Amino acid sequence: MTEVAVVGAGLMGHALALVYALGGHAVRLTDSKPETLARAPGLMATALATLREGGEVDASWTSERLARAVQPCATLAEAVKGAALVVEAIVEETAAKRTLYAALAGLMDATAVLASNTSHLDIFPLVPDALQSRTLIAHWYTPPYLVDLVDVVGSPRTDPAAIEFVRATVAAMGKAPVVFQKFVPGYVANRIQAAISQEVYRMIDEGLVTPREVDLSVIHGLALRIPVLGHLAKADFTGLPLVQRSMANKKDAPPPPPPRGNSPTLDKLLAAGHTGVMSGRGFFDWGGRTPEELFRDRDRRLITLKQAMRKMGGPLEGK
Ligand SMILES: NC(=O)c1ccc[n+]([C@@H]2O[C@H](COP(=O)([O-])OP(=O)(O)OC[C@H]3O[C@@H](n4cnc5c(N)ncnc54)[C@H](O)[C@@H]3O)[C@@H](O)[C@H]2O)c1
Repeated sequence: MTEVAVVGAGLMGHALALVYALGGHAVRLTDSKPETLARAPGLMATALATLREGGEVDASWTSERLARAVQPCATLAEAVKGAALVVEAIVEETAAKRTLYAALAGLMDATAVLASNTSHLDIFPLVPDALQSRTLIAHWYTPPYLVDLVDVVGSPRTDPAAIEFVRATVAAMGKAPVVFQKFVPGYVANRIQAAISQEVYRMIDEGLVTPREVDLSVIHGLALRIPVLGHLAKADFTGLPLVQRSMANKKDAPPPPPPRGNSPTLDKLLAAGHTGVMSGRGFFDWGGRTPEELFRDRDRRLITLKQAMRKMGGPLEGK
């Protein structure tokens, strides 16, 4: 059992605290906003109940056991003291991360490892010298208690033992760590997602398709084969001559990315306060249901899918 501090109790932080607790670790969770920290136990308990109902955790995982395994801490110092692993899950902002890492350098135990959950940032230049050899990225996907991939990457200054410590800890929790040799912003999965987003928002911004048409195409077309074949094995099944011909025939290939960064459609939704399920509305209207209800509904479906994936014997893999 490792003592783990999770810093940031937002969308990812509360879920990471749950993941590490389920992995058998003693977790301390903190957030700079008391109201966010106060909301975390309820969100974790709801997720735990869904996992228990779905048979993904055993019945001994009651909310009382969870409350013993995850201790909310009002201060960073209290959370970090004695922790062998500090998981950073605060806002994706360079200045905030830099300030936090400076504070952590003075608070973390001398051998403790810092693992950032950053989605895209190269955090290594933000880290003080004292922490460089013990800092790496361990990037999870939401909801991390159901999505198994963890992108693990250090900088050239990271001690390989620190990388192995985090890889082994995550693997022992039944997750699927992929250790990358070099930091590439967005890793693999987020970069593919970014390429998809680029094209989806272009088609929506240009009024070519509706949000519903996009999601129906993704769900009924793209998605089904991915758990079975990934992307490149699917190319083998398509036949590489056809893959090569589609690459050459640029008719359905996306044009180069536009110079602007923002999607006007997203700008409009955000200006109206439609931030997604947290506000009850994003591209779609979520019918007045609370985030807890919606996460539960999503998680139930993900559990069913994961169990089906296990039943099918995993993906079809070539050598
Ligand atoms: N949302 C996702 O799906 C997702 C997926 C993978 C990785 N990430 C990454 O995880 C990190 C957190 O993302 P999120 O979506 O949970 O954000 P979030 O905004 O939901 O939560 C961030 C939390 O950090 C807190 N915070 C800010 N500064 C702090 C500090 N100095 N000390 C303690 N707490 C502080 C905020 O109060 C907030 O509650 C980001 O780096 C993000 O890129 C997010």
